Amino acid sequence: MSIDEKKFKEIIAEFTLTGEQLREIAANFRQDLQLGLKNPDDSSLRMLKSYVGLPDGTEHGEFLALDFGGTNVRVSRIRLEGEGRFEITKRVGEPLIIPGKYDYIGKDSTAEQMFDFLAKLIDEAIDNEREKKFYLGHTFSFPSSQDDLNNARLIIWTKEFATPGVEGEVVNDLLTAALKRRGIENVEPVAVINDTVAVLLSAAYKNSGIYIGSIYATGHNTCYIEPTIHDPKGFGKGGMILNLESGGFMKLAPNRFDLEFDKRSEKPGEQRFEKMVSGRYMGELLDMATAELLNDVGKIYGFTSIDMSAIISDETPDLKKAAEIVEEKTGHKLETDDLKKIKELSSAIVIRSARLVTTSFVGIIWQRTGNKKIEPQHIAIDGSVYEKMPLVKENIAHALSELLGEEGAGVDTILDNGGSGLGAAIAAAMAV
Ligand code: GLC
Repeated sequence: MSIDEKKFKEIIAEFTLTGEQLREIAANFRQDLQLGLKNPDDSSLRMLKSYVGLPDGTEHGEFLALDFGGTNVRVSRIRLEGEGRFEITKRVGEPLIIPGKYDYIGKDSTAEQMFDFLAKLIDEAIDNEREKKFYLGHTFSFPSSQDDLNNARLIIWTKEFATPGVEGEVVNDLLTAALKRRGIENVEPVAVINDTVAVLLSAAYKNSGIYIGSIYATGHNTCYIEPTIHDPKGFGKGGMILNLESGGFMKLAPNRFDLEFDKRSEKPGEQRFEKMVSGRYMGELLDMATAELLNDVGKIYGFTSIDMSAIISDETPDLKKAAEIVEEKTGHKLETDDLKKIKELSSAIVIRSARLVTTSFVGIIWQRTGNKKIEPQHIAIDGSVYEKMPLVKENIAHALSELLGEEGAGVDTILDNGGSGLGAAIAAAMAV
């Protein structure tokens, strides 16, 4: 079979964003920030208060960090030594789902099972110790409403998590109850933060000039420090970090694949931005578009973002690796010319993702800057898509300069690897 050239070009165009579209989306993002600062109900951004500002770098002591937000849960013991220094003294981790064995995130699981699993991991991390006191920072990476640093109520599951009995609940209550069931009385949860907040705390503990923290992985979301909000119940300096839940941003230019995919997702209408950019979903977009090119409309091949990464990285003349993946997933043996098209399509989806993510950073920078000069800064990002997906870093850099021009020359992005765990420890240190 051979892919129809015209259809291919049309689909690539549908996944391409012009500079003008980018600018418009960034301006919309800024506008939603402004609306949200006045009243979050008027904005597609949830703008959730975290009750924490930036660390001052003197944070010290040993803390437990529970990192919960993707398919892997990690619990670490982290010793903070101030001035950006820290040591991870112990680390355990396990997936929340092993297909065929267990599943704590599906519709048939329960909140008790999920939190008992977390308590078991915490127990491992403290070596079943029952005497020594541990303060625990909890990175909980889902939209949660808080009225202090230690209580977070899950508003709604995202990233296709579906465990019943957690939405609407205070997660630290569920965790404390599970610790109790296991006979652990010496672990005290003292802070709950979003993973974006954790990345911002972690990066700001190590560097200056950090105001924006982001996750670009299974899910996507960004937070920033808002200097005008102060709260007596908040910790830290510089104002308050707002978790934007930018994955829910709406003022975009979705194409028909985005619309169609949203319809068949776990939560239609929610997380529209995230469904266009994050690792959990990019493979599905490739899937739908490829099915159209291969005249298999309606068929689900099961491409993942890891497949996309491998396809895009394939530099062999006959695209050997890409051919293997495409054949395995679609059942079609494609000629090199057609494989090139699948590779180009994968690249187009990734480039669009990186450009869209950049619009949110720029919207925040415009909002923070007002009519002053843009401050030199590093946007701190953690996550597998940012770290490993080809084309991402350079396309973010390119879109930043497209949108900010000369004035943005001092703005770049940095990887804050493992920031989720470290940030939780820092938040715990700030809280006690
Ligand atoms: C989803 C969650 C958000 C989290 C992001 C990255 O968008 O709603 O809270 O920060 O994934 O993990």
